[in-house]
Amino acid sequence: MSSLLAMRGVTVRFGGVVALAEVDLDVALGSITSIIGPNGAGKTTLLGVASGMVQAAAGAVSFLDRDVSAAPAHARGAAGMVRTFQNLEVFSNMTVLENVMTGCHRHVGYGVVDCLLRTGRFRREERRCREHALKRLDFVGLADKAESRAGDLPYGLQRRMEIARAIAADPTLLLLDEPAAGLNTRETQALGELITAIRESQGVTIVLVEHDMDLVMRISDAVMVLKEGRNLAVGPPEAVQKDPEVIKAYLGEDDED
Ligand SMILES: Nc1ncnc2c1ncn2[C@@H]1O[C@H](COP(=O)(O)OP(=O)(O)OP(=O)(O)O)[C@@H](O)[C@H]1O
Ligand SMILES: [Mg+2]
Repeated sequence: MSSLLAMRGVTVRFGGVVALAEVDLDVALGSITSIIGPNGAGKTTLLGVASGMVQAAAGAVSFLDRDVSAAPAHARGAAGMVRTFQNLEVFSNMTVLENVMTGCHRHVGYGVVDCLLRTGRFRREERRCREHALKRLDFVGLADKAESRAGDLPYGLQRRMEIARAIAADPTLLLLDEPAAGLNTRETQALGELITAIRESQGVTIVLVEHDMDLVMRISDAVMVLKEGRNLAVGPPEAVQKDPEVIKAYLGEDDED
């Protein structure tokens, strides 16, 4: 398998803080690749560099065999890289369906003028986007909530809606930042099944940043461990789990959890 996403020597500084120091990451096409590590290890920053939202001081990012190091976030999005955020980002006053429709932008073929004049093209595209969003809502099991106000959904379902919005863009690569945060055991189990289903049925490659070790070990093909902004270990989940350095890095954390 070739790498869909490859990061080399990525270094990020925030003022005096070195958030990432010469980090490498390879994400095989079609894989679920997880990034784990203690709080502040640099996981979210790494997703930021991958998606073009955080500027690296050094290093290179390639996506679909192209060097995208200098490409802005919207260009990487248009090329098929879509991310979700650690903190839930929901338009509370919009309906669930409208929230998911905001993810359709990669498909929408109308401009500002079409939108302002409500041209036939605008209405056609809007209908197409609506149908597409409904399919994605159905996929995550929320079709019956389409017309509900998003802010009225229980937290766990809002997180599912967020995933529906992300896959409405039909990504090639989906970057998920702690999608299980705040979910109970049953919801986390279901999330694992959903992520696997997205990979299986939509052929999406997935990068998962996650603290829930059961989830990570259950669904990942590869796991990369970050500690204090550096690569600590990488490999199949069983090997990483047994790595003495990794066990050391997690001692104490696991006790708290
Ligand atoms: N915008 C920023 N400005 C200054 N420092 C930042 C910024 N973003 C992150 N940092 C710092 O960079 C380091 C890495 O942060 P990052 O959020 O990437 O960690 P993380 O692994 O995602 O942690 P967590 O598990 O808590 O989400 C931390 O020391 C953090 O305080
Ligand atoms: Mg984070």
